[in-house]
Amino acid sequence: MQNHDKYIKRCHELAINGLGFVAPNPMVGCVIVKGGEIISEGWHKKYGEAHAEVNAIKNLPDNFDYSDCELYLNLEPCSHHGKTPPCSDLIIDKKIKKVIIGNLDTNPLVAGKGIEKLKKAGIEVVAGVLEKEGRDLNKRFFTFHEKKRPYIILKWAQTANGFISRWPLSDIKEDNWITCHQSKLLVHEWRSHEQAIMIGTNTAINDNPELTVRHVKGNNPIRIVIDRQLKLDNGLNVFNSDAKTIVVSEKEKENNNNISYLTLDKAHFTVKNIFESLAKQNISSVFVEGGALLLDSIIKSGLWDEARVFVNPDLEFKNGIAAPEFDLSKGVQSNSGTDLLFSFTNNS
Ligand SMILES: NC(=O)c1ccc[n+]([C@@H]2O[C@H](COP(=O)([O-])OP(=O)(O)OC[C@H]3O[C@@H](n4cnc5c(N)ncnc54)[C@H](OP(=O)(O)O)[C@@H]3O)[C@@H](O)[C@H]2O)c1
Repeated sequence: MQNHDKYIKRCHELAINGLGFVAPNPMVGCVIVKGGEIISEGWHKKYGEAHAEVNAIKNLPDNFDYSDCELYLNLEPCSHHGKTPPCSDLIIDKKIKKVIIGNLDTNPLVAGKGIEKLKKAGIEVVAGVLEKEGRDLNKRFFTFHEKKRPYIILKWAQTANGFISRWPLSDIKEDNWITCHQSKLLVHEWRSHEQAIMIGTNTAINDNPELTVRHVKGNNPIRIVIDRQLKLDNGLNVFNSDAKTIVVSEKEKENNNNISYLTLDKAHFTVKNIFESLAKQNISSVFVEGGALLLDSIIKSGLWDEARVFVNPDLEFKNGIAAPEFDLSKGVQSNSGTDLLFSFTNNS
């Protein structure tokens, strides 16, 4: 492995610490190297707070001599005043000799301008190291800026005979569960990675889910519930004060504490418009947790990036709601406790 690859890989390892905390910003790590040794590291820890390179520089004395140092970053440094001052100015200020970058930033506010600024200041710049790995790391960020919609992950659980829900539901709550404890924990971890969770109207009514992160440590994502006719009762768990909730509706209603309303008229109430409107609210990823009608409409639209499907191979329901039509044999199969997990990436 080349040295550049080695240090950019280290940037990726540092950057991933920001998962669930920095969105809609990218996850970025930074390594400062002198004489072949790492002398400082940093990463972007929280949205609105210091960027990776600022944190790495902060670890060293103010008057430190960077003239024979290389700075590694998995993403082009910003060149604009956002929530924090431009990082390219700081790098120039510190007279760092050489900067090695993983990916160019496709955020139009930055795109190429950060690198240009460094080069103009006489800094040697190498870009495009481990690009594929870097795009994968920041798949949410790149999708958000390039497709102007959030990164969409679909998730559901189904029985061995293809039902996502028993119907009618059993009064014994546990009899309606499909997945094992380990899969439930995994879902909570996945929730904590995304900026928002979405469900359909019937799921909000039938399951009354809280949609919060409770079984693992992590931030609660924003809850998004589709409710075209505003028929959901305010007492449902999805409206409790544990997290913010966005109601996507055809009807207008005034925002109220943690609940806000995103209104689209009937003619524009499409999956595409819903996602684009959420992107305009700075939501860069959505974890869609069902039910079948919502998932089906998104699958039909083609506007999804990943699907994660649990199958309990030992459970069958006599009657129920059918799972989305999806060819599980095309997925990558793994185990999650006693469940099977099929993972898909949509490359179309
Ligand atoms: N196993 C699992 O992973 C899992 C996960 C979640 C839910 N579930 C089960 O699924 C059941 C509910 O599934 P479901 O298919 O009946 O309902 P659903 O998808 O939760 O909700 C469907 C309703 O949401 C609205 N909706 C959904 N997508 C829409 C779109 N693209 N545009 C406009 N409106 C949209 C529509 O409401 P209007 O009719 O008002 O327009 C639609 O009738 C629940 O009983 C739950 O137990 C299972």
